[in-house]
Formats: sequence, structure tokens, C-alpha cells
Amino acid sequence: MGLSIQHAGYFEDHDSHDARQFIMQCYKSVRRKSHEICAPLAIEDYVIQTMPDVSPPKWHLAHTSWFFETFLLIPFLRSYRVFDAKYGYLFNSYYETIGNFHPRKCRGLLSRPTTQAIYQYRAYVDEHIEKLIASVPDEHWGTCYDRLMLGIHHEQQHQELMYTDIKHIFAINPLRPVYQTLVERSADHLSRNDWLPYDGGVVNIGHEGRDFAYDNESPRHHVYLENFYCASHPVTNGEYREFIDAGGYQNPEYWLSDGWKSVKENQWIAPLYWEKMENEWWLMTLSGMRCVDEDEPVCHVSYYEADAYARWSGKRLLTEAEWEHVANDITIHGNFSESGHLHPIAVQMGKAPYQVFGDVWEWTQSPYIPYPGYCAPKGAIGEYNGKFMCNQMVLRGGSCATSSTHMRATYRNFFFPADRWQFTGIRLGEDR
Ligand SMILES: [Fe+2]
Repeated sequence: MGLSIQHAGYFEDHDSHDARQFIMQCYKSVRRKSHEICAPLAIEDYVIQTMPDVSPPKWHLAHTSWFFETFLLIPFLRSYRVFDAKYGYLFNSYYETIGNFHPRKCRGLLSRPTTQAIYQYRAYVDEHIEKLIASVPDEHWGTCYDRLMLGIHHEQQHQELMYTDIKHIFAINPLRPVYQTLVERSADHLSRNDWLPYDGGVVNIGHEGRDFAYDNESPRHHVYLENFYCASHPVTNGEYREFIDAGGYQNPEYWLSDGWKSVKENQWIAPLYWEKMENEWWLMTLSGMRCVDEDEPVCHVSYYEADAYARWSGKRLLTEAEWEHVANDITIHGNFSESGHLHPIAVQMGKAPYQVFGDVWEWTQSPYIPYPGYCAPKGAIGEYNGKFMCNQMVLRGGSCATSSTHMRATYRNFFFPADRWQFTGIRLGEDR
């Protein structure tokens, strides 16, 4: 999008014309991208929900607008009238302090409001956000700036969900629709995996400073690490296939108890979207079905599968502190959504470790819990991250569906250990 949101810094002068101009540009650019993501969809694609975790694309379009309406327009734009009073119930996701909301698993049952009405809602919110940015008094600008930034990053999070939800919607359809034609790229040959040594000791992890970060990335704090090795590459499809061929999915000794339960209950035999046809493994992508490429990072595996693969190979997953220590000195570049592939690719750029950012979210062995000294913000905004700090695992580094401007070394994503529909992969570590 050409705007480096996370490096924008914080405009000390709240009334600075530049600050208002800058945020307006960021806002417009991010809102436009949501429309671009939906441009290839047919009207029917906007409406369905293929499992409770998936939301219909039109719901994402509406919910991200509801976020701006609820946290900015209603409290800060004088004489603002909500677009439709019933939308609060339909498009609130999980904010209990705001009010009741429509059950998540029933989002796909709603033919109304129509997609067209939701695009009108978006235009209405955009028009009023523009007014707000131009007119909000200085005394409220600091809060508005922070909330606009949060709303912009929130919409970027939903953009990634739109890609993964569209993929799921298309993948369960026997017609296997193509969302976009394949983006051509030259084939890379990967060097073999190396084990890169890192010295332990006391390190600092977490966010500090006034650039944008979510509350769950703070406070920055000390962590003690033992010496460790980090794999130079994420685990590839070829490597993962060896685990499959060795009977990995049939042998409980590699699996956590809950993981083995998931294997049996869901009859997992391979990553999500893999399919065996005439003795060949194929997988579904946003460009339709294709043969499994041995060199690409393996993708759409759960934490349980990542953990089982690690155990089978005699290694382990990195902790999130180890991962951040590795990532700290690495420039953020890689296969993000801007590259247009929307699929992890076999690539080796710069020096090892490779593909730390982009391609696939890397499962860590760390539970998603608060950092020492963490305090959720007061009020509804405090529900954004804090209340999910139980039973989920941390993932790092972003994926081919993440915007590059959304990524930081300190970024903590989190999903339940059985979740597979995000672009999730594996990087191994080892004690040293
Ligand atoms: Fe949301």
C-alpha cells in the first residue's frame, strides 16, 4: 500500500496537519484494500459460512466498519447518527461491555442486510471518519489517533481472515473455484536446512516505544534463554511428507493427548487442504488445486501437528522468546500479501535464517499468556486481546496473507492448538 504504518511514529503535536493527513491516507488505503480483496467474489460468495471459525466476507466488511463507528464516530463525532441501530447487534464480534451480539456460528444465516447495503454502510462510515479526522477538537485528537490506528490494524487483521475464510469457502466446494490466477514466479532451489546457533543469556523481548503495537506485546521485559539452535528454513512439504509416509498420523507416540484425540475425531491424515489423487498429493490454494511442491513451506497445520512433527524428528518448536530473539535483527521482508502469491513459496532471500517473516505463521511452543506487568486497557478496548489469554498458543512472523505493514518482530498472534485454516507452519529449534 506504500504506507509504512508501523513506522509512522507518534505525532507529538496532536493538532499537526501532517498527523491528520497521514492517518487519513492510511485509513483510505486500508479500506480500499478490503474492497480489492472482495473484488473477485461473486455475490453468493459474500454470504456463506462454512464452519464456525469462518465468517462470511460481507460480515468482515461490516464488522470492521462497526468498529470505527463504535469506537470513534459514536463517542467523538458530534451529532453522528448511526447508519442502522440494529447493526450493533449483528456486527459486534465479542465486546460484552458494548452489548449483546449475534452468535458467531450463525453469521452465515443472514441474507440481510444485503451485500449492497453493507457497501453503503462502509461508504457512510468512511464519509464520517473523514469528517471526524478533519474536525475532532485537539483535546480528543490523541485518543482518536490511537483508536484510528487500532481500527486500521484491526481491519488489516480481518483482511487476512478474509483471505483464509474465502479459501475455506472455495475449498469445500467440489467445483474448487479459483479466487485468482496463479502469480508466476521463478523457481528457487533451497539449500538444505542448517542449524543456526544462538547464545542464550538474559534478553529483552516485547514492544517499547510509541510506534503502534497491540497491548499484548507489552511490557518489554527480561527473559532468560538457554543456548539453542534455530532451523534455517521453515519445514517444507517434502520434509513433512516424510512424517506422513513414516506413519506419523497413525502413531500415538508422537502426539500430545489432545492432539491424538483431534487426529482420531477429525480423521486427520495430512495438513488441511491436502488431498491424495491417483497416488499424488494435491492441495487447494487460492489459485485452485495444484500438486504439492516439495520445497514450499508446509502450511495449514495445527499446533498439534507441528508439535508431533517436531517430536518425530527429534527436535522441538521454538519458544516465542527464542523466536523474537532470532527475529530481532532481521529486516521485515518476505512473501506477504502484497506479493500477490497468497500462498507460501519456496524462496531463499538474504542470509539465514530464511522466511522468518511472511509465508507461514510459525507455531511456537509458548502459551498465549500475559507478559509480566501486562495490564489490559480499561473498557471495551481491553477486550480486544486480554480476555483470550488462556488455552491458545502463540504464532509469530506473519504469512503470505498478512500485510507487510502489519508485521513487527514483537507481534503475537494466537490460535487454538487444533486450528488449521490460517496459513500456519513450522520452524524447528533444538537445545544446544
Ligand atoms: Fe474484529
